[in-house]
Amino acid sequence: MAKEFKRYLVTSALPYANGPVHIGHLAGVYIPSDIYTRYLRLKGCDVISVCGSDEHGVPITIKARKEGVTPQQIVDRYHALIKKSFEGLGMSFDIYSRTSSKTHAETASDFFRKLYDEGKFIEKTSMQYYDEEAQTFLADRYIVGTCPKCGNDRAYGDQCEKCGSTLSPDELIDPHSAVSGSVPVKRETKHWYLPLDRYEGFLREWILEGHKEWKTNVYGQCKSWLDGGLQPRAVSRDLDWGIPVPVEGAEGKVLYVWFDAPIGYISATKDLTPDWEKYWKSEDTKMVHFIGKDNIVFHCIVFPSMLKAHGDYILPENVPANEFLNLEGDKISTSRNWAVWLHEYLEEFPGKEDVLRYVLCANAPETKDNDFTWKDFQARNNNELVAVLGNFVNRALVLTQKYYGGKVPACGELNDYDRQTVAEVAAVKASLEGNIENYRFREALKDAMNISRIGNKYLADTEPWKVVKTDPKRVETILNIALQITANTAIAIEPFMPFSAAKILGMLAVEKFSWERLGAMDLIPAGHAIGEPALLFEKIEDDVIQHQLDKLAATKAANEAAESNQSIEPQKDTIQFDDFQKMDIRVSTILEAEKVAKTKKLLKLTVDTGIDKRVIVSGIAEHFTPEELVGKQVLVLVNLAPRELKGILSNGMILMAEDASGKLRLLQPGETTNNGAVVG
Ligand code: 2FM
Ligand code: ZN
Repeated sequence: MAKEFKRYLVTSALPYANGPVHIGHLAGVYIPSDIYTRYLRLKGCDVISVCGSDEHGVPITIKARKEGVTPQQIVDRYHALIKKSFEGLGMSFDIYSRTSSKTHAETASDFFRKLYDEGKFIEKTSMQYYDEEAQTFLADRYIVGTCPKCGNDRAYGDQCEKCGSTLSPDELIDPHSAVSGSVPVKRETKHWYLPLDRYEGFLREWILEGHKEWKTNVYGQCKSWLDGGLQPRAVSRDLDWGIPVPVEGAEGKVLYVWFDAPIGYISATKDLTPDWEKYWKSEDTKMVHFIGKDNIVFHCIVFPSMLKAHGDYILPENVPANEFLNLEGDKISTSRNWAVWLHEYLEEFPGKEDVLRYVLCANAPETKDNDFTWKDFQARNNNELVAVLGNFVNRALVLTQKYYGGKVPACGELNDYDRQTVAEVAAVKASLEGNIENYRFREALKDAMNISRIGNKYLADTEPWKVVKTDPKRVETILNIALQITANTAIAIEPFMPFSAAKILGMLAVEKFSWERLGAMDLIPAGHAIGEPALLFEKIEDDVIQHQLDKLAATKAANEAAESNQSIEPQKDTIQFDDFQKMDIRVSTILEAEKVAKTKKLLKLTVDTGIDKRVIVSGIAEHFTPEELVGKQVLVLVNLAPRELKGILSNGMILMAEDASGKLRLLQPGETTNNGAVVG
């Protein structure tokens, strides 16, 4: 028997306040959590939904340093932006809090202090990179060097963004500090660790035995973490941005962001209601964490171990993590600006909040990574929202206006087809509930949309616009049923598309119904005057989609340009004009070319320099065939001291350019020129 709960606590991963929210966040975390919460509210459950900004951590300090502002300024900016854009999309958090709040600092400090006092941490010293010039320990992100895997000379101490490898600072070649540029040294530092290994038994029993119903991706990740063996995890950092470690001898140390962030769910609840303890301390509360897959270990292994160690709090009942959403076939990336940003969408598509909510739910990465494409966005809007949902609601309302002056006609005797239709609508409720309660939101959305599909079919089959001429009484019943189905649609789509649900209710001129009324056929009484019909959705034209695709194409081009810039050699030391004057460069023609025996790279070239005909040995055999070189005009440094290569005396150098990919190109005069012409 499934356990009955008296109340629900829904949490949504706290977004980092160092950038705006994009569609990947929405599809992975916030759309599902909002659907779930709205559904529970409609059912009349005691439910609260908490979220807020995650305002600590190293990336925020890096961004601040780059922009020359304080971390507080960064988080203030993005907290405001994220909060506003969430509101714009209809996210119905009961509180959107922040981890730089006073309540949070107190809550997180008290949490740490209790574990510390009860000896739940271990203290360890280790050697960590220290920047002597800036007098600061360096987080892995603050150490840059060359990636041992791909040679990228801008890899970070925790990751190479070029090849995607996870790294540790010790693996970097030529590591240096991103703060001062100096070479860091290793220095001893003390930190507090949560010995996760001590919680392995508890976690195995709680998750692997007790929560076999969790989503396969979540359960699978937990199992592999547990099977891999858990290690103690540091819960403090040497950093000047965060919540100070609240014990003696911890100067300059703050709580690790992943220690304080999940406690943010508790402090947000405290800020929401003085009655917060009933949500956190009662076994009658069902706590559900909505997160993306990169957060699974923190919400299923680390935070539960913290909660267990603390002892006063409940554990999550479920953690329905989603996989990732890609954009037009590529991984969404904040640093590469490869994303659809929520605040931009809201500006560019006013009134189309529900379209985004719909598409992201219909395409949510529930069991595997998925792709968002603008063509799919357009197709779903035009073929599903406009053609099915909008069309049905509009037909029902317009026909009622037309035939009955906007007064709901009475329902007469039902025939078999009416009864079958009514039964189909009623059957949606159980399926929809089962799908939402089991976190299958894509299927649930299909159920909700099914009601208007049934309605459309009903109107198409019963043809009231024809029957009205022969049997007007019958049309009263048909339209009464169509209007009841319309009202049912408003109930069913509310968790997914709250703006459209409200519009339908407005057009029907009725108040919001409770969830329990879903399936009922007496939602609107006969004689009730409905309001003016308006279009629920409008077609999205090709040029609108093309504009978005063009924006992405521009981003891609900018990224490619930036990447090729990365491999541009830095400028060499300055030389004087006299130094340059010493070089004698002449236009020359290659007369003969042949491979040098027993070498891979060398070609022996005979060139006409205008001064003489001479031999030059050049290491370009891997880039050019002898045939393609003969007859070409090139630039030759003719006064380079001769040197012998494989027994052949080389008298000069052919000038080449090496492009970003390492390919060599001949440097040639723009037009055929006489050999011996001086370059300078
Ligand atoms: O991955 C992230 O975006 C984190 N800021 C999520 C934190 S969730 C919670 F623990 F606060
Ligand atoms: Zn690399």
